[in-house]
Amino acid sequence: MSATIIDGKAFAATVRGKVAEHVTRLKADHGITPGLAVVLVGEDPASQVYVRSKGKMTVEVGMTSVEHKLDADTSEADLLALIADLNGDPAIHGILVQLPLPGHLNEDLVINSIDPAKDVDGFHISNVGLLGTGQKSMVPCTPLGCLMMLRDHHGSLSGLNAVVVGRSNIVGKPMAQLLLGDSCTVTIAHSRTKDIQDVTRAADIVVAAVGRPEMVTGDWIKPGATVIDVGINRTDAPEKGEGKTRLVGDCAFDSCAEVAGAITPVPGGVGPMTIACLLANTVTACCRANGLAEPEGLTA
Ligand code: GUN
Repeated sequence: MSATIIDGKAFAATVRGKVAEHVTRLKADHGITPGLAVVLVGEDPASQVYVRSKGKMTVEVGMTSVEHKLDADTSEADLLALIADLNGDPAIHGILVQLPLPGHLNEDLVINSIDPAKDVDGFHISNVGLLGTGQKSMVPCTPLGCLMMLRDHHGSLSGLNAVVVGRSNIVGKPMAQLLLGDSCTVTIAHSRTKDIQDVTRAADIVVAAVGRPEMVTGDWIKPGATVIDVGINRTDAPEKGEGKTRLVGDCAFDSCAEVAGAITPVPGGVGPMTIACLLANTVTACCRANGLAEPEGLTA
């Protein structure tokens, strides 16, 4: 293996440290405690794990964490009423509605009912439009985390050829916008892209966000390129024993690491950065709401 491993776990701890410092200053100088509300509808086990971990880290950086756990059969009207309350609550600076929502709820309607200034996921159409036009917005957490790691590794990204594999609203599209904002030449590749290996092999930066275990292999990568693996896939691992599983990314780690100049591992790469950036977005939203200077280095 020749690639440098980009340690997202350590980087995320640094970001959380910066957030905690800023929270301490907000409390001491202005008597303000940033507050994050997380809304979970139903009992999806993976979502419950995420929400618990978000709540714990929110408290660890000194912010207020509010969790609303609603029954799976909660009506859209009741969910919208809760969001309206949170929109109007001056102690709440960030609102996150955990996705996916149960099928009877209209996800777009629910997300677009969040006050864009409190939309710490950056999923509201206003924030999507602001990001797309290069204006100040709330930026989706996972792409923001990827951007932070790329800037840290490369310094300037200007002029680099970046290929984003995956065109989701949560990662692929905002990632492409952020890379464009940093003056990369950006291509979005996806399941219908012809000769996709040739496309990725031309890239200085490959961001893989497709949700297909170990799809990207070393022969897709230009020697020395940087590989950011957003995938978190659970696969069977019979070598570990009956019924055991392991986490893998969208990139076949060993084969990509033979060729790449730098690569994020799974676990311990992009994953920890997502929650760190959620906390960063909450402190940013709190500063904006109070007309205060935003923390340096925690926004796009
Ligand atoms: N479910 C999986 N990832 C996310 C995320 O980043 N935000 C929200 N709201 N739900 C998710």
